Amino acid sequence: MTLADPFGRKVTGLRIAITSRCNMSCLYCHHEGEEAGPAGQREMSEDEIVKVILAGADLGVKRVKFTGGEPLMRPDLESILKRLPEGLEVSLTTNGTLLAERAKSLAEAGLDRVNVSLDSLDPGAYSRITGGTAEDLDRVLEGIDAAIEAGLVPVKVNMVVLKENEDEVWDMVDFARDRGVILQLIELLDLSDHGLGGDLSRIEKELESRADMVVTRDMHRRRKYFIGGAEVEVVRPIDNTEFCANCNRLRVTSDGKLKPCLLRNDNLVDLGSADLEETKRLIEKATLIRSPYFCEGRS
Ligand code: 5AD
Repeated sequence: MTLADPFGRKVTGLRIAITSRCNMSCLYCHHEGEEAGPAGQREMSEDEIVKVILAGADLGVKRVKFTGGEPLMRPDLESILKRLPEGLEVSLTTNGTLLAERAKSLAEAGLDRVNVSLDSLDPGAYSRITGGTAEDLDRVLEGIDAAIEAGLVPVKVNMVVLKENEDEVWDMVDFARDRGVILQLIELLDLSDHGLGGDLSRIEKELESRADMVVTRDMHRRRKYFIGGAEVEVVRPIDNTEFCANCNRLRVTSDGKLKPCLLRNDNLVDLGSADLEETKRLIEKATLIRSPYFCEGRS
């Protein structure tokens, strides 16, 4: 069975925030679009997380991505992973600081791959951007190595392009080539309008001129550049009607609400204490109210 919204966009992925807690304080963080809840906001239980995934899988969901907060703040992640059906592609977006010691157990529990946030290789800039220390940066690098070692591949490295780190893009391309990871250059969603964003248009022109090959992925119509053995993907959602027209994911907030769009909070569908069948109906309901945020007439 295939879920599709009124715009013909299939829902094939769930992006699930399993906690809003995090051990870093990145200055650009959009908190996956979750409104800052009261301290001690409810967090989905292991059973609730498994239930929404099983319901999604029954409806044709093929991919699940865990996010946060920092998903590795949850000690029960391995236990959740072990309960998921075969055949789902399961990945994780993490800040990497807690990854080295968990990579092997996560892989054994069924995790397929990881995305690691790494905005800078320079301890000073890393610290200004994330609030972390030079030791944290070392832990992230160890986490990336451990993930590769554990077979959580392809490892993708997320770099949000900021004024603070835009001069480092080519060092990151070299890093990606050396380690055999995929670099994702991500456009800043500047919710607080502080003008932190770097010039991704200029960078993309340089990528284009240096690339041996350029391909366009189905997912969000993202462009991927192959440069002397390095793989660099560019994620530019802002004002991008094509990005939204090719969005295939439904989000789930850490407190158990289906969230059709990162940028909206007026159309959440609360899963409450729904059982499996009711959860499926709520997923269908949330799918039917999906609509592309950036579309003709709004940009
Ligand atoms: N703009 C763009 N990407 C963001 N992320 C978090 N906040 C923002 C933002 N304001 C992305 C980063 C990080 C992932 C968890 O979410 O890529 O790696």
